[in-house]
Amino acid sequence: MSDLTFKILRNLGDGKFHSGQALAQQFNVSRATVWSAIQQAEALGVRIFAVRGRGYQLSQAATLLDATAIKRLLPSHFDMNIVVLDTLESTNSYCMQRIRELPHATCVAANVQTAGRGRRGRTWISQLGSSLTFSILWRFDCGAAALSGLSLAVGLGVARGLQQFGVDAQLKWPNDILVENKKLAGVLIELQGDMDGPSTAVIGVGLNVSLSPQMLAKIDQPAIDLAQLGLEIEPNFLLCEIMQQILNVLQDFIDYGFVSLRDDWIDLHAHQHQTVQVLQANGNTQSGQCMGVTDDGTLLLQTLQGLQKFASGEVSLRGV
Ligand code: ATP
Ligand code: BTN
Repeated sequence: MSDLTFKILRNLGDGKFHSGQALAQQFNVSRATVWSAIQQAEALGVRIFAVRGRGYQLSQAATLLDATAIKRLLPSHFDMNIVVLDTLESTNSYCMQRIRELPHATCVAANVQTAGRGRRGRTWISQLGSSLTFSILWRFDCGAAALSGLSLAVGLGVARGLQQFGVDAQLKWPNDILVENKKLAGVLIELQGDMDGPSTAVIGVGLNVSLSPQMLAKIDQPAIDLAQLGLEIEPNFLLCEIMQQILNVLQDFIDYGFVSLRDDWIDLHAHQHQTVQVLQANGNTQSGQCMGVTDDGTLLLQTLQGLQKFASGEVSLRGV
């Protein structure tokens, strides 16, 4: 998508009509170029009304992410480096590629991701305005071995952020946020560094804002978005609220470890004491009753063979 498309979308973000001629004059291009930029936005799922004699209007007032707005909204004691890019393959990939040069406490957010990633090569499906997509780069003194509970901690932060908007969020081990048993958000953590430290984490969050029926059809598990929950939240404000809660849990995680967050995580655990299946990377499946998580976020499963423990790296959990 061209820069012009995003410039036009920023203008249309006020929800009012803007004539093709006024847009063409403002950006010093032809009306045909404006029309083609509008087509590009529509191809990405943004609905724009074109009314003869009045011009173009977004189907609903939509705001793009904006680094200045985010910095203004974020309380000053959160000293974050904020980067907003209009279009990007993946905010996690962007941070991983620049993991040495980006400063500690950088948040990279994208208005559109063209190749969003989930765990183990899976895809995070999103379009312009459909999903909040951002990554936080964070440097830890400890190594990867001490970060096993990090994705659970971040999930708790996202859930707490959502609770502020009245969302009854639940957590699915190790990295999903569910509402009504459908996936609303996911966390993808990628690490670089030694096992015993120091290390850098790229903490990616994808949160569904408003999915089209076509996107819902593409997602191969039940999914939900904030619009279905009756929520329309200004995206810069939404990002700030969620990020603050993540930064709060990160501080607790660093100071006291996952153990200090474990009880709160279990309170929101979607499968506590329920029968679940654990799918292992080698294709084996284990069924059992989910007994929660240990002090470092390892899953506890009561099976016919006894209490078994699973680390998040190579297994997936499914409700039965
Ligand atoms: P796991 O338990 O291993 O985490 P998972 O199915 O949640 O399993 P992830 O890698 O965490 O897998 O997430 C990627 C998956 O999320 C995709 O395979 C797809 O099923 C689902 N997905 C992709 N895009 C979305 C979205 N926008 N909203 C909800 N779910 C999505
Ligand atoms: C999951 O459920 O597996 C995690 C999905 C994480 C998606 C987010 S969107 C922002 C960041 N960039 C990515 O490519 N992935 C994460």
